[in-house]
Amino acid sequence: MQHMRFFAVAALLAGLAWALPALSQDEMERVPNTVFPSPQRSEATFKHDEHNDKAGLFECGVCHHGETDGKADPTFETPGQPCVECHPVEGAPGRTPLMRAYHRQCVGCHHDAGNGPLTCGECHN
Ligand code: HEC
Ligand code: HEC
Ligand code: HEC
Ligand code: HEC
Repeated sequence: MQHMRFFAVAALLAGLAWALPALSQDEMERVPNTVFPSPQRSEATFKHDEHNDKAGLFECGVCHHGETDGKADPTFETPGQPCVECHPVEGAPGRTPLMRAYHRQCVGCHHDAGNGPLTCGECHN
């Protein structure tokens, strides 16, 4: 009986491991807000791949920039590195705090492009 249970658990774990890669950006529909201690709004709508296809954004570094000499560097791409690692929620000396970083990036581009949502409820819905 004991080994039967082992196999059932092993099969379950194998199934989960198989399902995990499917939870990558392919499936991202909203920007996670779990790093904010007490979120005031719903997570912003953002169908990662679909959004980027529609908007014609093929350079990951447009959003996932790296850092050179304390400045954002789009040629040094950091896809998958959470924004909060460089933009703490409360900010830090010389660092744009996380909420402002998101708003500048998302709303800033929509504003400049004359396309994409600008009002709170269009993203936080
Ligand atoms: C283009 C999309 C977009 C628009 C427009 C936008 N936001 Fe956000 N906002 C985000 C993203 C992305 C985050 C980061 C995490 C998340 O909420 O998904 C965020 C985070 C926040 C946060 C911090 C997390 C929380 O829930 O407490 C607040 C507060 C917030 N937004 C309020 C606003 C308000 C108020 C407006 C309108 C003046 C607004 N946002 C407009 C995309 C947007
Ligand atoms: C319009 C902006 C934008 C573009 C362009 C973009 N991403 Fe993202 N991506 C995001 C945001 C925002 C997140 C969430 C970041 C966070 O949680 O800190 C994210 C998250 C990710 C994640 C983590 C997924 C997860 O579920 O944790 C990966 C991997 C990723 N992006 C890869 C890419 C790759 C590869 C490209 C280029 C083909 C790309 N991204 C282009 C905005 C963008
Ligand atoms: C490897 C570190 C790093 C990562 C990861 C990173 N950034 Fe940055 N970012 C910087 C640095 C350094 C600057 C310049 C100093 C500052 O304003 O914080 C910057 C600047 C910015 C600015 C310009 C602020 C302004 O005043 O106009 C925005 C917007 C921004 N980042 C958004 C994001 C978003 C959104 C993500 C995640 C998709 C992200 N950053 C990921 C390092 C990073
Ligand atoms: C570099 C430019 C750029 C950045 C950065 C950007 N967007 Fe967009 N976004 C667009 C454009 C362009 C459209 C309009 C696409 C179309 O429908 O033609 C758009 C459309 C949208 C839409 C409408 C639905 C859709 O998917 O077409 C949502 C929601 C949205 N953006 C959310 C976000 C959020 C949240 C962020 C930040 C995490 C973000 N965007 C960052 C350019 C950008």
